[in-house]
Amino acid sequence: MKSSHASFWKGVVVVTDPAWGDNGKGKVIDVASEYANVVVRYNGGPNAGHTVRNSYGEFGLHLVPSGIFHPKVINIISTKVVVNPFSLVEEIENLQKKGVKISGKNLLVSEGAHLIMPWHRKRDTLAEKTRGGSAIGTTGQGIGPAYEDRASRKGLRVGDLLRRNFEELFDRELVWQERLTRVMDGNEAKNSKEQYYDRDHILKDFKKVRALLSPMIKNTLEVIWKNFDAGKNILGEAGQGALLDLDLGGYPFVTSSNPGVAGFSISTGISAKHVNKVIGVLKAYTTRVGGGPMPTELHDEIGEHFVKEGREFGVTTGRRRRCGWIDIPAMKYGARVAGVDRIAMTKLDILDKLKEVKICVGYTVNGKKYKDITTFDPEFISRAKPILEKMKGWQEDTSKIRDIKKLPKNAKKYIERVEALLGLPINIVSVGPDREETMYRK
Ligand code: IMP
Repeated sequence: MKSSHASFWKGVVVVTDPAWGDNGKGKVIDVASEYANVVVRYNGGPNAGHTVRNSYGEFGLHLVPSGIFHPKVINIISTKVVVNPFSLVEEIENLQKKGVKISGKNLLVSEGAHLIMPWHRKRDTLAEKTRGGSAIGTTGQGIGPAYEDRASRKGLRVGDLLRRNFEELFDRELVWQERLTRVMDGNEAKNSKEQYYDRDHILKDFKKVRALLSPMIKNTLEVIWKNFDAGKNILGEAGQGALLDLDLGGYPFVTSSNPGVAGFSISTGISAKHVNKVIGVLKAYTTRVGGGPMPTELHDEIGEHFVKEGREFGVTTGRRRRCGWIDIPAMKYGARVAGVDRIAMTKLDILDKLKEVKICVGYTVNGKKYKDITTFDPEFISRAKPILEKMKGWQEDTSKIRDIKKLPKNAKKYIERVEALLGLPINIVSVGPDREETMYRK
C-alpha cells in the first residue's frame, strides 16, 4: 500500500470539507499520515470532533491532529487555532492512557494561538441565549468569543503560559472578563460581590497545564517552514467545513474561522500556490448540525436511516445531525470557497440498503432554477427547493469491498454521476471507519 499511494500524498496536501463538517476528515488524515512528515491542524478549536478508528481504539479527537497515531509524524496545532488548554491536556492524557506516545517531539502548539478560557465558554452560552429563536446552535466551546478577543487584540495566547508574569496577565484579563460577563448576563446593576470565575481554581489548573504543555509550546512556523523548505510532506487538517466559513459561508450560521485552503495559508504562512492538492472530504449523503437552512434535509424514514446507519451524532456535543440527500449546488459552492480540487467520498456503505438514491442537482428559488449558486445567504437558501434526480440503488454490502473495481454497478454509476455534477474527480472512496476500508480510484 505504501509505495503505491505515496505519490498521491506528496508535497503539501490540505484536507478540508466543502460542506458543514463531520464528513470524515479525521479518518482520511489518519490514513494519509502514513506518508506525512508533518500534520498541521490549522483552524477552529475543540468544536471539531474528528473520529479515528485504528489499532489503538476509537477516538474522538478535538484539538490533537489526527496524525498523532503515526509515531514519526510531527503534529502541529498552528497559530489560527483557538486552544482550550484544559481540554487539550485531558485529550492528551486520554490518548496516552491508551498507549499513544505524545511529547514535545511529536506534538507542538503554536505560541501565537489564542487560549480559550472559562469566560469564553460562558460568553458563548450567554450570547446564544440572547439570540433566542435565531440562535446559531454553536458547540458551546467558546470558539466565537475567543476569536472575537483575538480580532480585537485582547486575551491570552499559548505563549503567555511560559511568561514569568503570567499571573499578572491573567489577573488583568480576569477583571475585564468579569465585568463583560456581568454586563452580558444583565447583572451589572446588582451590587452583588458574586464572581463568575474562581481565580485560584483556574490558576491551580494552569499548573498542570504548564507542566504538560510547556515542552510543546513553540514558534511552529519555524518547524513548518523548515519542513516545507526541505520538500517534506505536509498535511493540513481543517476543522469544520466551507459552508461554515466565517466570511463566505452561510453567515451568521457559521463558525468563526476559515476551514478552506485560505485558512491553511493564514495559519501556516504557506501560500495556496504552494499547495499541491486540496482534498474535499464529502459523505455520500449530506449532514449538518446547528441552526441555519439545509435544502435537502429529510424528516422521513430515509433521514432516520442516515442517522441510525451512519451514527450521525456529534462527536463534540452528542447532538443528532440533520441528514439529507447529497446537495450538489451547496457542495460545489463550498468546494469553490475552500479551493477544493478533488474529492474523497466517505460512508458510501450507508446507502447500501436503499432501493433508490437521490441527488440534489439544483434548486428552485422563487420559481427560478439554479444549478450553481454564488451565495449561501440563509434568506436565499431557506427558500431553495431541491431538484432531485433519482437513481437505482445497489442493495449490496459494499463494506467488505477493498477493490474499487468490484463495487456494484449502480454504486459506480452513483459515484460517476456525483463526480460529473461536481466537476471534480473523486479520488478516494471509503466504505467504513477503518484504515483498510479506503479505496483509491485513480
Ligand atoms: P461554533 O463553531 O461552536 O461557534 O458553532 C458555530 C456553528 O458551527 C454551529 O452550527 C455548529 O454546529 C457548527 N460547528 C462547529 N464545529 C463543527 C464541527 O466540527 N462539525 C460540524 N459543525 C460544527
